[in-house]
Amino acid sequence: MSEHDTMAETPAGTPASSGPLGYGDRVQLTGPKGRLNTITLVPEGEFHSHRGVIAHADLVGLPDASVVVNSSGEEYLVLRPLLSDFVMSMPRGAAIVYPKDAAQILSLADIFPGARVVEAGVGSGALSLHLLRGIGERGELFSFERRDEFADVARANVAAFSGAAPENWTLSVGDLQDTLPAVCPDGTVDRVVLDMLAPWECVGVAADALKPGGVLICYVATVTQLSRTAEEIRRSGLFTHPQSNETMVRGWHVEGLAVRPDHRMVAHTGFLITARRLAPGTVLPSLKRRASKGDFTDADLASWLPDLAGDATSAEVWTPEVVGDRVKSEKVLRKKVREARSLAQERGVEEPSAEPGA
Ligand SMILES: C[S@@+](CC[C@H](N)C(=O)[O-])C[C@H]1O[C@@H](n2cnc3c(N)ncnc32)[C@H](O)[C@@H]1O
Repeated sequence: MSEHDTMAETPAGTPASSGPLGYGDRVQLTGPKGRLNTITLVPEGEFHSHRGVIAHADLVGLPDASVVVNSSGEEYLVLRPLLSDFVMSMPRGAAIVYPKDAAQILSLADIFPGARVVEAGVGSGALSLHLLRGIGERGELFSFERRDEFADVARANVAAFSGAAPENWTLSVGDLQDTLPAVCPDGTVDRVVLDMLAPWECVGVAADALKPGGVLICYVATVTQLSRTAEEIRRSGLFTHPQSNETMVRGWHVEGLAVRPDHRMVAHTGFLITARRLAPGTVLPSLKRRASKGDFTDADLASWLPDLAGDATSAEVWTPEVVGDRVKSEKVLRKKVREARSLAQERGVEEPSAEPGA
């Protein structure tokens, strides 16, 4: 495989492991020009660049983070990819939650070892992998995804990273609104994490599933979705006042006296909104604040969020296109499923089951 092909086509990944490198491990090779190539170590395997060859056997037995030399004397740094490396390059059915937002979700939702967590939708499984890390082996993750193809991509990605389908992970195919009550009895869930087009449609079932004091956290891409979600949480009367934020991460170039922010950054990914489940029957005390000229009427809200005011249905107003989601064709999605499965197979995982709940 050429250097170029490897960069474009091969996703990175590895189970969370340490120790000497062995066959079956995914490793990242960084060459003289800083280019990253990700390969799976196999017996008889060779890594070819334009200028030379490295036999996989030469890497086996080396400690992680070693340097190897190719047949023309060029040095390559060898590293096992981190979880963030894996999710950024694994096959994607749907847009993923970036590591900067996943880190915030773990913190703001207080994802703890042993927690029972509900997640929807699953998309490509990036957030699922972070949540599985956070809950540890004693926790349980119940994931829900309405589309079969996305569920297939996520199953394969999670298995490829973990080395097998985690026993404490259940993936159900269906709309969260319809499937959650059958999977998680009322009041048994510590955290609910929603990353979907219309999280306000799931506020009710999330409230039913959560224990008193449990955290609901929603990730949305646009200000209009943020507003719609906050108003639904408020209107339900079942949660504390919602808190909203976004996270911007700006990289820095730090070299000698040239110390400055990077010229480019990912300026926007999404917003996070959190609220805590009130105990059943509890009424949130109203905030004492002076009436201000800035107070809005129901008509003002209706002009901004027509479905909230009942002037339209949610399905009429909110489509992936209106919030700027790029929708992948069926053909592209099938390709992503194949890519994710072949990555899992390279890692020695049997084809992940397509059975709901498996
Ligand atoms: C942006 S993707 C999620 C990405 C995922 N968090 C990740 O990090 O890879 C949103 C997903 O939500 C799914 N979805 C939307 N509404 C849903 C619902 N009501 N129940 C279950 N899944 C839903 C969509 O099919 C889509 O796959």
